[in-house]
Amino acid sequence: MNNTFKAYQVKENNDGSFSSEIKQVPFSVLPNNEVLIKVHYSSLNYKDGLSASGNKGVTKSYPFIPGIDAAGEVVEDKTGSFKEGEKVIITGYDLGMNTSGGFGEYIKVPADWIVPLPENLSLLQSMIIGTAGYTAAYGVTRLKRELIKPESGSVVVTGATGGVGSMAVYLLAKLGYSVIAVTGKMDQKALLELLGAEKVIHRDDLYPEKKALLNSGIYSAAIDTVGGKMLEALIPQMEQDGAIACCGNILDHELNTNIYPFILRGVSLLGIDSGITKMPFRLKIWEMLNETAGDFPKEAYSVVSLDELDDEIEKILAGKQVGRTVLRHEV
Ligand SMILES: NC(=O)c1ccc[n+]([C@@H]2O[C@H](COP(=O)([O-])OP(=O)(O)OC[C@H]3O[C@@H](n4cnc5c(N)ncnc54)[C@H](OP(=O)(O)O)[C@@H]3O)[C@@H](O)[C@H]2O)c1
Repeated sequence: MNNTFKAYQVKENNDGSFSSEIKQVPFSVLPNNEVLIKVHYSSLNYKDGLSASGNKGVTKSYPFIPGIDAAGEVVEDKTGSFKEGEKVIITGYDLGMNTSGGFGEYIKVPADWIVPLPENLSLLQSMIIGTAGYTAAYGVTRLKRELIKPESGSVVVTGATGGVGSMAVYLLAKLGYSVIAVTGKMDQKALLELLGAEKVIHRDDLYPEKKALLNSGIYSAAIDTVGGKMLEALIPQMEQDGAIACCGNILDHELNTNIYPFILRGVSLLGIDSGITKMPFRLKIWEMLNETAGDFPKEAYSVVSLDELDDEIEKILAGKQVGRTVLRHEV
């Protein structure tokens, strides 16, 4: 093994701007964690865009190698929990935030962040899913816990062409739900239908004509990836005992709503945090993905190399992401 490995590294320049370079970095950039992993694939999530553009709420210090997802093979495990060559997945925790991430050919993580690769999935498939698919599956699991069933009625997915959104449309449809995909990209209607959406509406049409404390209850459930005024518009439009799994803040971190949907309609707002899910629940979600998510359509993802990442990051930060983007390292 060489003393260095190839990585997409982001640095802070003297003028306060941030720039990236693809370079050989020494293994000493990796933290002193238990398990060394050779990364075969990573994937691109919105948070990677934030880390790669210098968002200090995500990554405190630079130079830094982003990538909140990684799938690869164990090289060495000081705890003895994993065998050399074992195929594993890491999503979330601190990976790619302040722990050197999957945009490098190697990572070093604590053993208790690691999920063994589920038997039906390849490393590539696990990263087509990645944090986005894991988050969507977490949302679906929370909705099921609230007894939202396919016969309950329509389930709305906002930010439907994005990573989490496209995975949520696909998973819900596979499980038999009737999905209304909400998007700003009506030119992607055919793709959303291919993923299983029964109806595709423009995001402007999600807003009721007149905002009220309670609007007509028309949706049984939702997976909201956008937040802000879109989530505010959804809450009063939920049916009796409806539920919204919310995970994103693309529009805003603030939420202005009122109590009536909750106390007069029994609506539930379910929080999703895919980062620090406890391991037993994490494994259950991967079990569900193992059973359902192996055939995400090829039209809805692309595989890129390190030197294509800059363009992809620009796209995701501009809200132009469509489906999933997987990063393939040379192995
Ligand atoms: N809580 C968690 O555990 C967790 C996990 C993963 C992600 N997240 C969060 O979930 C959100 C989505 O993540 P992602 O990786 O799926 O991002 P993404 O791939 O960039 O998708 C976001 C989608 O939001 C829509 N959108 C963009 N700008 C918008 C605007 N101004 N108004 C309304 N919709 C807009 C777009 O879809 P359309 O054009 O189709 O509308 C876009 O494709 C982010 O806030 C991310 O941080 C949270």
